[in-house]
Amino acid sequence: MENGARLRVAVVGLGFGGSFPEIYRAHPDVAEVALCDTNAERLAAFAGEHGFAARYARLDDLLADGRWDAVHLVTPIPLHARQAVAVLQAGKHCACTVPAATSLDDLRALVAAQRESGRNYMMMETAVYTYHYLMAAAMRDAGELGALQFLRGAHYQDMEGWPPYWAGLPPMHYATHAVAPLLALADARAVRVHCFGSGSMREELRAPYGNPFPVETAIFQLSRPGLAAEVTRSLFETARDYVESFTALGGKASLEWHLENELPVVFRLSDRTPDGWGRPCAVERVAPPSRNDLLPPELHRFTHHSVLMDQQSLHGSVLHGGAHHGSHPHLVHEFVRSIVERRPPAIDAVRAADWTAAGICAHASAMRGGEAVEVPSFG
Ligand SMILES: NC(=O)c1ccc[n+]([C@@H]2O[C@H](COP(=O)([O-])OP(=O)(O)OC[C@H]3O[C@@H](n4cnc5c(N)ncnc54)[C@H](O)[C@@H]3O)[C@@H](O)[C@H]2O)c1
Repeated sequence: MENGARLRVAVVGLGFGGSFPEIYRAHPDVAEVALCDTNAERLAAFAGEHGFAARYARLDDLLADGRWDAVHLVTPIPLHARQAVAVLQAGKHCACTVPAATSLDDLRALVAAQRESGRNYMMMETAVYTYHYLMAAAMRDAGELGALQFLRGAHYQDMEGWPPYWAGLPPMHYATHAVAPLLALADARAVRVHCFGSGSMREELRAPYGNPFPVETAIFQLSRPGLAAEVTRSLFETARDYVESFTALGGKASLEWHLENELPVVFRLSDRTPDGWGRPCAVERVAPPSRNDLLPPELHRFTHHSVLMDQQSLHGSVLHGGAHHGSHPHLVHEFVRSIVERRPPAIDAVRAADWTAAGICAHASAMRGGEAVEVPSFG
């Protein structure tokens, strides 16, 4: 890419990935957008409906075409690490949906490929660009939370009937939506974990990954001294509506978000001197702002639910919580601007590996009855 030139970006995988091409196309630093999907019918239907001319049925053909500067992978989980390494080795910048990988070896290979290529890698973690997360981070930065005292995250989702690679997946192998907001708020990584599996699952779900647990719950020791975080995940046979939520307990104020479509609750501790039975705490439901101030005007319309909700062809998971609470344009903007400004993106390969490894090690702990497992550092 020449200095000052606008980017040419390809989006690979048009299920959930279908929410991104329009956002790239609207971005002022993007010149052209290509689509790639091995499902010919889906590719033709999506490209036709939305007017995208450049189409590829195979990732290899896209990678061999020197026209494209960057590739955003939104393909099935087992392909993420291998495809991301291939994109980087082809000399292109890579964005990839979560999780970055499902093994520590693949995370090491990814970090090595990013370093060797000198290209940008960004894990496109929606949970750290939601209205709720951006509000919590702003409260932290303004000193409103006081000292962070504890963090808790939960991601409950029933994956019955989803594509076959989901069936029986260890819950902590898809933990980044619950882990990432906690580690990002603490600006820390997980160094050690104890995790327990819970519940029982029918045999056909236990077989594919040798995982017996529908639910896993973990407590992480963080690299920031004195701070711990707890994460619970469920994927199967558990009656809980979908949510990707977090709690941040601070010394002065705390924020809890429990239900997908309800506002988060902010607790503010009075600074009145205690008179013997604790200090009063003000409790308020707060509507987080959409933070369009962080985006170029061309992307403002994508932080609102209605733009994408109107489309019949839209992927189911996007409908949950309406485009993941405004996060998609922020992800696109950060990936694109990091390339234009020739700097690492906010969720670079090391950060992506640190966040993803926390869940991989948690599942390893659960399989050993809750034994402590050290989480390696990728920095
Ligand atoms: N909040 C989030 O960040 C979030 C939400 C939903 C899904 N995801 C992630 O997005 C990924 C895709 O999810 P989905 O539900 O759309 O999956 P999916 O399996 O429904 O769709 C994947 C798409 O990729 C295509 N594809 C498969 N192999 C390909 C290949 N080798 N080359 C090109 N295209 C290929 C398929 O034809 C399909 O259209 C998953 O890995 C999931 O982890 C993230």
